[in-house]
Amino acid sequence: MANKTKFQAIKGTRDLLPPDTELWNRVEATAREVFGTFGFGEIRPPIFEPTELFARSIGADTDVVGKEMYTFEDRDNSSISLRPEATASVCRVYIEHGMHAWPQPVKLYYLGPMFRRERPQKGRYRQFYQIGAEVLETVQPGQGGPKDIPKDAAVDAEVIEMVMAFFARLGLEGVQLEINSIGHAAENCRRGYVQKLKAALEQVKDKLGPDSQRRIETNPLRVLDSKLESEQAIIAGLPKISEHLCDDCAKQYAEVKRQLDLRGVKYTENWRLVRGLDYYMRTTFEITARGLGSQNAVCGGGRYDGLVELLGGLPTKGIGFAIGEDRLILSLQEAGKGGAEAGRDVFVAWMGEKAQTSAIAAAQRLRAAGFRVELPPVEQKFGKALGQADKLGARYALILGEDEIATGQWTVKTLADGAQAKMSESEFLEKLKRL
Ligand code: HAM
Repeated sequence: MANKTKFQAIKGTRDLLPPDTELWNRVEATAREVFGTFGFGEIRPPIFEPTELFARSIGADTDVVGKEMYTFEDRDNSSISLRPEATASVCRVYIEHGMHAWPQPVKLYYLGPMFRRERPQKGRYRQFYQIGAEVLETVQPGQGGPKDIPKDAAVDAEVIEMVMAFFARLGLEGVQLEINSIGHAAENCRRGYVQKLKAALEQVKDKLGPDSQRRIETNPLRVLDSKLESEQAIIAGLPKISEHLCDDCAKQYAEVKRQLDLRGVKYTENWRLVRGLDYYMRTTFEITARGLGSQNAVCGGGRYDGLVELLGGLPTKGIGFAIGEDRLILSLQEAGKGGAEAGRDVFVAWMGEKAQTSAIAAAQRLRAAGFRVELPPVEQKFGKALGQADKLGARYALILGEDEIATGQWTVKTLADGAQAKMSESEFLEKLKRL
């Protein structure tokens, strides 16, 4: 007997269906267009990579690597993971393809699925989609250091400007940009701050929840991320990184803000914005949008100088972001901006053998001109055909019967108001183009 198990999409994964996919395509086409105007080129890395690539880049102690990756042993015993993000892959690609020898900086963007085994909820999935971009620049001999601060800051600001321009083009509502600087790893900067933070956290340890208590040891900065109501007042009293940045990091942060102002990009500062991935330094940012509930971060990013080197490449600077496309789409839909277009431009209702020949020819010409045409495979009574045209959301029904074939004048019915008119093929094409 046949096994009648009904298959269902795996928890945390979704099927994207028409007409929603029209909006997905529109969003992706807009990303390509806007990113192209900033000089970015598309890159398509594979969706699985050696596990070690992510562990080394994102950090073995992060939630993403420690708890959320889909990792499996391949048949040759090597450990492989589905990508939880793509920045690590882009850095690997940069090294593998010798991109340090390309004209600098190298500006790349990507679109595609990412995988994290998180607890699914609205706006949070196990297979989700990102639209991301990265700017990489290998430090040339004699360059780098403090004199690069104005340049780096301008690059940071332009990358942020690009995401904001993309969101504006889509009409995304309630967009709010938050920025921060998390300094760099040196003793007189983040390392020193983390020590102070840890000492301050030890003092209030009893008042913190178990997650934060654990993080005092594993990653004290992440305590600042806590959303737990009971911890908010305590966190507000902790030392702030902005007061402990070294001179260069403080200068860079001030310059990023100036550059954002120059570009008319509005932001708020959030000293608690530390991000959940280890590779960041200096500039970090997040963008939220309306209609998303608790999972309202629609974009996250920051600077990651040194990551390419950590992966075996030359000293290289990096800055980028990734947009959560699922969340972006949700927000657009909630704001009523997801309107799918009508299903068809033309439904060709035909009856009789001769009419079929004309109907096929008409459908071919209309489709070649770019219109969406439904051509029933067998003849139907006109009443039934018009009913189907209506259900499909067609704009026009083209009625082809003996009369129309004999006179060369088509009968065109506008489905919205039922108006009917006779016209030639070229007149009909003109009418469609005016839509
Ligand atoms: P991230 O903050 O981990 O950063 O992810 C970026 C965005 O992806 C989030 O703001 C969110 O919109 C979306 N996202 C993350 N996880 C999920 C999920 N489970 N379901 C739905 N959406 C999700 C990165 O991934 C970095 N690689 C960004 C970056 C690029 N930094 C520098 N360059």
